[in-house]
Amino acid sequence: MLEARAAVRKLKEYHPPLGGRVGLRLDFNENTVGCSPRVLERLRQLQFEQLARYPERESVERQVATHLGVDPVQLLLTNGVDEAIHLICETYLEPGDEVLIVVPTFSMYEIYAAATGAHVITIPAGAEFSYPTDDVLARLSPHARLIAIANPNNPTGAVVPKSDLLRILRAAPNAAVLVDEAYFDFHGESLLADVASHPNLFVARTFSKAYGLAGLRIGVLVGNAAQMAMVRRVGSPYNVNAVALACLPEALADQDYVRQYVAEVRQGREQLEQELRSLKLRFWPSQANFVLVRIGERHDNFVRAMRERGILVRDRSRDPGCDGCVRISVGANAQTERLIVALRDAVRSKAATGVPA
Ligand SMILES: Cc1ncc(COP(=O)(O)O)c(C=O)c1O
Repeated sequence: MLEARAAVRKLKEYHPPLGGRVGLRLDFNENTVGCSPRVLERLRQLQFEQLARYPERESVERQVATHLGVDPVQLLLTNGVDEAIHLICETYLEPGDEVLIVVPTFSMYEIYAAATGAHVITIPAGAEFSYPTDDVLARLSPHARLIAIANPNNPTGAVVPKSDLLRILRAAPNAAVLVDEAYFDFHGESLLADVASHPNLFVARTFSKAYGLAGLRIGVLVGNAAQMAMVRRVGSPYNVNAVALACLPEALADQDYVRQYVAEVRQGREQLEQELRSLKLRFWPSQANFVLVRIGERHDNFVRAMRERGILVRDRSRDPGCDGCVRISVGANAQTERLIVALRDAVRSKAATGVPA
């Protein structure tokens, strides 16, 4: 009988709860108002030839490279950051190699790494979900071939100081260090400028969050030119579809749209954190477009109570160190107002949280 590889048979199934997402979707850290209207206009103008032809990445890659201030040879457009992670794993990992990740974090690092047969070493986050740089350095061995770091991290919103990232890069010259900046726009600090001086550094960015293009599946991976030539070998030349390629230049050109959305998210994040403080709920200050909140034992009642009030939030209580925690994405101003009303109401309906009103 045909059998999948042993490493694949051992993988846990990963089913994000995507079905029936009716309501204000504050459960997947997406852009809650959609993309720039310029993108929709571009979509309407698409001609059949553009769909009939295989997609050509290069000219859009040049534009993205200019936008990011890097050389096109250092950059690859990918089918979301998900594919960037997959390609890094395929390029660098052999069965038995070690991969270091600090948990809780984004699930796809472990999935793609474990699928290669590599040994994934999970290191618990430090106090307040801080990045335990010394613990990571202590676990480094000559077998370590990948260290994946979400900065800001999902689901905690915590960030790693740049000096710590640089320490890791220097301490692990034979490992790929992937700094996943999916939430960069909401934070503003980047390691992109350090790619030139660190041949083992890869920086990933996505257009799924601030740019509102999650459905198009487009992201970007930047790294040392020689390393990127290796990464390109394992990818499909047609990994990014023609519709995404046609739309991306419009999305990039409308920086006012992104700035406005990011400003609203940052303001909403502050408002939400303020509200959580006054509701006496434990939360972790976030640099991303979401906040992790400890609801306690009744986290599933809370998620249900919010759903009944038309708002979807994500139960993260099974993530390591996240007992009783729920992650709430932040959107535009009016949506934050709605969120806060529902949140107060859900918390006061004591059945949801047990927190005194
Ligand atoms: C840290 C992190 N990286 C990557 C992704 C996925 O990005 P993309 O939609 O570009 O595949 C997510 C999505 O939630 C994320 O949280």
